[in-house]
Amino acid sequence: MKPGAIDRCIAFIKSQYEGEEPVALHAPRFLGNEKKYLSDCIDSTFVSSVGKYVERFEKQCADYCGAKYAVAVVNGTAALHMALVLKGIGPGDGVITQALSFVATANAIHYTGASPVFVDVDRDTLSLSPAKLEDFLKTESVLRDGARIHKASGLRLRSCIVMHTFGHPGRMRELLRVCEHFGLVLIEDAAEGMGSFLDGRHLGTFAPIGALSFNGNKIITTGGGGMLLFDDEALARKARHLTTTAKVPHSWEYDHDAAGYNYRMPNLNAALGLAQIEQLPGFLASKRALAAAYSKFFYDEGIAFISEPAGAVANYWLNAIALGDRRERDTFLEKTNAAGVMTRPLWKLLDGLPPYQQCPRANLDNARWLEDRVVNIPSSVTRWRDGKT
Ligand SMILES: Cc1ncc(COP(=O)(O)O)c(C=O)c1O
Repeated sequence: MKPGAIDRCIAFIKSQYEGEEPVALHAPRFLGNEKKYLSDCIDSTFVSSVGKYVERFEKQCADYCGAKYAVAVVNGTAALHMALVLKGIGPGDGVITQALSFVATANAIHYTGASPVFVDVDRDTLSLSPAKLEDFLKTESVLRDGARIHKASGLRLRSCIVMHTFGHPGRMRELLRVCEHFGLVLIEDAAEGMGSFLDGRHLGTFAPIGALSFNGNKIITTGGGGMLLFDDEALARKARHLTTTAKVPHSWEYDHDAAGYNYRMPNLNAALGLAQIEQLPGFLASKRALAAAYSKFFYDEGIAFISEPAGAVANYWLNAIALGDRRERDTFLEKTNAAGVMTRPLWKLLDGLPPYQQCPRANLDNARWLEDRVVNIPSSVTRWRDGKT
């Protein structure tokens, strides 16, 4: 880093968020119909999992993402869990995913009784590497009685979850090709990807199942919430059934034909979501303008700013930079946070967390390289006070 770079960085970030002290990493913005829809929802008394806002929000998400079906659930973790349940993943199975992810990706696998199996990411996309995945499957697995078995652990490798880090797309076409060749079902953890496109397609719609999150820190929020995206009607119907306690429709009988889940998104949350999705184009424009300003600033400072890969239009949900090494990263984190500018390192790699230390893993050199260097910087929607988003 050039001398004085961190101080200039602090001043630049503060200039983007004048009047906000401290500067948050990602604060939600409620600038539209939120209060109107919430109050209408309360007046209707339908605040839980039955109500018009859930259906309207699902329809808006499906239309925006270009998915045939969208099923709203309580959060992104539940969406991922349900995706695995729908594909019959359970004990004895291994689900390949990246160690560079938020813990929810591995937790969802764990809930099914399956085990995460960690494979490396690419340095440029920060997402699962198709080349590393292919190499791992070729060298570490074998086809036995029609099942793909991980040689060292004996786990059946049946599925793979790619996570689109910070809204930057992974290499979907290559990943789909590798998964198809080795007989794995691909699932997209697009929790961070609402508003991101690759080759004109929304993230979460490449694989048979995609999962979105609307947590308070995401680009649009429902407070807590998630969405499953499908093109397959039978899968969507099953998801709707299982997430609503597997209740068989009847005017008064309590009949449940499976051990279902109470995962349906409440109407109150969907009301908030509907108001938020109406503002998504404005939020995206504001975030892309901020990313362009950051990109120029960090270019002038000689610091690597993480940009969307070729063919992608990313949402720039969380902007990120890569510093020279871990020492530089830690100094940056210390000084910016002390100055009231919230910055955060990458998540600790999942293979090192106590619940996942025993899980199989491949060489994770790229993930470790990124863990030492990548820092997220404030990324909330800017220019919002005057309603110009
Ligand atoms: C990559 C990733 N996966 C899954 C989740 C889980 O979403 P939720 O917090 O809505 O359960 C999140 C975010 O919170 C995430 O960032």
